[in-house]
Amino acid sequence: MNKAGDKVYQEKTEQNHKGQGRTKDVKAKVQSVGKESRRIAILGGGNIGSSVARGLVSSGRYTYDDIIITRRNVESGSDLIREGFSLQGDNKDAVRRSIIVILAVRPLQLPALLEDIREEVNSSRHILISLVTGVELAEIRAILGKDVPLVRAMPNTAIAVRESMTCLSIDRSGRESLLALSKAKSLFELVGKTAIIEERLMVPATALCACGIAFFLRAIRAASQGGIEIGFHSDEALLMSAQTAKGAACLLLSSETPPHPESGIDKVTTPRGCTIAGLNTMEYEGFSSAMIKGIVVSSEKAATLYATERR
Ligand SMILES: NC(=O)c1ccc[n+]([C@@H]2O[C@H](COP(=O)([O-])OP(=O)(O)OC[C@H]3O[C@@H](n4cnc5c(N)ncnc54)[C@H](OP(=O)(O)O)[C@@H]3O)[C@@H](O)[C@H]2O)c1
Repeated sequence: MNKAGDKVYQEKTEQNHKGQGRTKDVKAKVQSVGKESRRIAILGGGNIGSSVARGLVSSGRYTYDDIIITRRNVESGSDLIREGFSLQGDNKDAVRRSIIVILAVRPLQLPALLEDIREEVNSSRHILISLVTGVELAEIRAILGKDVPLVRAMPNTAIAVRESMTCLSIDRSGRESLLALSKAKSLFELVGKTAIIEERLMVPATALCACGIAFFLRAIRAASQGGIEIGFHSDEALLMSAQTAKGAACLLLSSETPPHPESGIDKVTTPRGCTIAGLNTMEYEGFSSAMIKGIVVSSEKAATLYATERR
């Protein structure tokens, strides 16, 4: 989109903001902190970029005005605009007006984006957080040609409902890097749980956590299909399956030292009972091995994705 188009979209966004009325005004008052010092630019308002934005706003610690989202085709982001977000095509402007810059484009789109913002990135002002799969921080630093504080993060789409598992890593141990990591950790803890891992494990983390959302959604869908076969309507079966899955996850996550899943399983498997009969049948059919194998293949694929796409 050209500059004139950008302006029209920004104006539309502003009108939209006015129309959002009281709810936003109240939030804005509660959270009123110097805008410039807390503004976040999310470069790439696709699946994960928009999920991050939604999660941050729903945390109550950021308002719509604290976040600038960009994409090249701003017309395609009308949902975000309707919700109240500022969406624009100008990455440079977004970086100029922000402190934290989140890179949320696909791997092949990253070099062009970095070239675009390079001049605006200021090592003493910005922290860059890359969500981009398979691209190492050293590579980003090389394209930027600057020693800017960089963090690599791998969230998942549950960030929109503040239930992300976000893995974080840095590639340097200096004060600036550690400070950036600490800020990124605080940010992502607003929208779920975090784990700091070595950068070499970021690709496996993609398979387990980012792709993992799809794996568990498929498992819930399978459970709900089983539910339909044994007599429930599809909406009932889906609710019952999803809430049961949430309960199982909460049993593991509700204490500081999570119990082993098998100890929870032992509590529902009575001798010669129906749970163990169902469970063993699932295992005969390859339940655990299918999940393990799928995660391994997904991780292997994630490791080669960027290189393959570049060819
Ligand atoms: N989806 C997930 O669950 C997930 C989780 C963790 C990490 N990731 C990683 O996050 C990245 C994005 O994934 P995604 O699923 O969100 O992909 P996506 O839906 O395709 O989003 C990419 C977005 O980037 C925008 N974009 C591309 N080039 C741009 C540029 N130069 N300036 C501004 N915006 C630009 C695209 O919009 P336009 O075409 O309109 O520009 C699009 O909205 C990937 O590297 C992925 O590996 C994804």
